[in-house]
Amino acid sequence: MRQKIVAGNWKMNKSYYEAVSLFSHILEFEDEFPSNVKVIVSPPYIYLNEFSAKQKEGRNISIAAQNCSHEQSGAFTGEVSAEMLKSIGINYCIIGHSERRALFGESNQLLKKKIDATLKIGIRPIFCCGESLDERNTGLHFKTVLKQIEEALFHLNEEAFLNVVIAYEPVWAIGTGVTATPEQAQEMHAFIRKEIENKFNKNIASQISILYGGSCNPENAKDIFACADVDGGLIGGASLKSNSFLKIIKEAGNH
Ligand code: PGA
Repeated sequence: MRQKIVAGNWKMNKSYYEAVSLFSHILEFEDEFPSNVKVIVSPPYIYLNEFSAKQKEGRNISIAAQNCSHEQSGAFTGEVSAEMLKSIGINYCIIGHSERRALFGESNQLLKKKIDATLKIGIRPIFCCGESLDERNTGLHFKTVLKQIEEALFHLNEEAFLNVVIAYEPVWAIGTGVTATPEQAQEMHAFIRKEIENKFNKNIASQISILYGGSCNPENAKDIFACADVDGGLIGGASLKSNSFLKIIKEAGNH
């Protein structure tokens, strides 16, 4: 069975004390996390080291970075390498979030390098893909998502690919309060899985966790997580409050 995952993407939110307080609340409820759900918290870089140290060995929670450099080391002012992340115990990294693509000009070619940089050092990438509203309205959504996956992931061998987590996040649903319908989510997730099967094989496709992201909240999580090919969620706004994040985690455990 593939792993169910609920990951909270805090983006550029929370001052230090707010961040520590939110993380402590989440940890308080750790014993109540469903055993079949992997919980991931992704705060801004500067909190990673402290959070990573707080997370206790063997518990069902991991810390993720929101981005990393495709370079290994050297004169790249402001950048953080995958190796640095690994050295403080980070095992996951979000790669290719639509905000990175749109606001920071990250191309599929660059993301391919970031994917390689993370996998090389033993960090599991949470690779984001998803179409814009225009692309959906003009029927280009499948083509767009396939291109993102092909160009950034399909060069990997089977062993490496098994370490990838995919997050389908339609751009028009991110932070807008408009979520994809369960039918839209299932249709795209099934499409992604089929393309993985075509590229690799059925066995590999059945093991890859594909998360949904985009205005997921405690109210709509139930119907979305009930979809056969949805293996959890990448949660933005609703992960900034411990109550709603915990409700979403529990919902994931029910499916
Ligand atoms: P949202 O963000 O849940 O606030 O829509 C999701 C994301 O960007 O990962």
